[in-house]
Amino acid sequence: MYAPSRDDLLALDAEDPLGRCRDLFNLPDGVIYLDGNSLGPLPKAVKSRLADVIGNQWGRDLITSWNVHDWVNLPQRVGDKIARLVGADAGEVIACDSTSVNIFKLLSGALPMRPDRTVIVSDIDNFPTDLYVAQGINEFLGGRYELRLVKADDLAGAIDENTAIVMLTEVNYRTGARYDMNAITALAHGNGALMLWDLAHSAGAFPVQLNVCNVDLAIGCGYKYLNGGPGAPAFLFVARRYQQSIRPVLSGWFGHAAPFDFTPEYAPAADLRRMLCGTPGILGLAALDAALDVFEGVNLGDVAEKSTALTGAFIERVESEYAGFDLKLVTPRDPTERGSQVCFSHPQAYAVMQALIARGVIGDFRAPDILRFGFAPLYLRYADVRNAVTAIADVLRSETWRDPRFAWRNPVT
Ligand SMILES: Cc1ncc(COP(=O)(O)O)c(C=O)c1O
Repeated sequence: MYAPSRDDLLALDAEDPLGRCRDLFNLPDGVIYLDGNSLGPLPKAVKSRLADVIGNQWGRDLITSWNVHDWVNLPQRVGDKIARLVGADAGEVIACDSTSVNIFKLLSGALPMRPDRTVIVSDIDNFPTDLYVAQGINEFLGGRYELRLVKADDLAGAIDENTAIVMLTEVNYRTGARYDMNAITALAHGNGALMLWDLAHSAGAFPVQLNVCNVDLAIGCGYKYLNGGPGAPAFLFVARRYQQSIRPVLSGWFGHAAPFDFTPEYAPAADLRRMLCGTPGILGLAALDAALDVFEGVNLGDVAEKSTALTGAFIERVESEYAGFDLKLVTPRDPTERGSQVCFSHPQAYAVMQALIARGVIGDFRAPDILRFGFAPLYLRYADVRNAVTAIADVLRSETWRDPRFAWRNPVT
């Protein structure tokens, strides 16, 4: 396999069509940020946008801003910007609430669309919140459903004529392994089930093709590769064909057909607005809206190519330089089978990551033994791959990770 040399990596930066995007972000000096899959860095435009929204809109125009600055339609406007990134049409994505809440909204809304079926299929290694929310819904419904959790390799055999919905995360948060969205969606549909994708580790990292794959429902995070800020609003997608039939369980007034009529009877909006619940958080939405502008004019094909190149170069350089250091690749080598992150297991992964962070290379740790490195194509350089590999060498060869201060567990890992 071709392994780019250290000099090759520098040459790649010179011809990177996304190279100009880095300057749109606030990236501290001396830091190589490989954790944009957990919290994206601050886009510079967010600062001035929030200053305007706080100072002029909220501060001066007060409640009139709902109309004057069209706050009321911000969830749809932000959703439309995300739609391009995930292969949806305008009006099929809305930005609101958290990822977990949106999973609840879509799952609880979808189950009654397959009233005679009683199985929810998911991956036992799915991100826990997805599974916890499904468990909560099932408990609330008196345990009517079987939550069938299987390993990725056993998925095909788990989907049958009793499956109401298949709920999966496209890119596994711990290994970076990526499902074949087209094939799995077809499998679910072939069995008459609905398909719900969690795009937390996909949206903004590489182009997603929801409509090409005929996906029914999807959700995703605003604070990872979309760079909307800590706790940013999430998003949800409902294919146009289901927008009239999905019935919101969280039937709040912002999803009503005419919220300002204040009628006592709930009547859902005719379009995707029905999936809103209460008053949208405007500061968070405004930050996400400004953050999404970094994708303006960006060719998503370039994003996909760079994601593959950065992760591939990192895998190859780490493996060629550090055989014998207890690092084991857990991310698929085939670029079509991985997202934009690379994970290695190491028996002392927590301490190794703390030592790396102390040296300015920020990734994260996922229990029990995973070193996780995210590669966001918009602001990372090939030189960052090179320098991160050098830092890993220092930490492993000098064994600085053995310093007792690196063993102390922070509450957030
Ligand atoms: C796949 C996946 N889904 C959901 C979430 C988090 O959901 P929330 O934003 O509601 O905390 C994460 C967080 O890392 C995730 O990796």
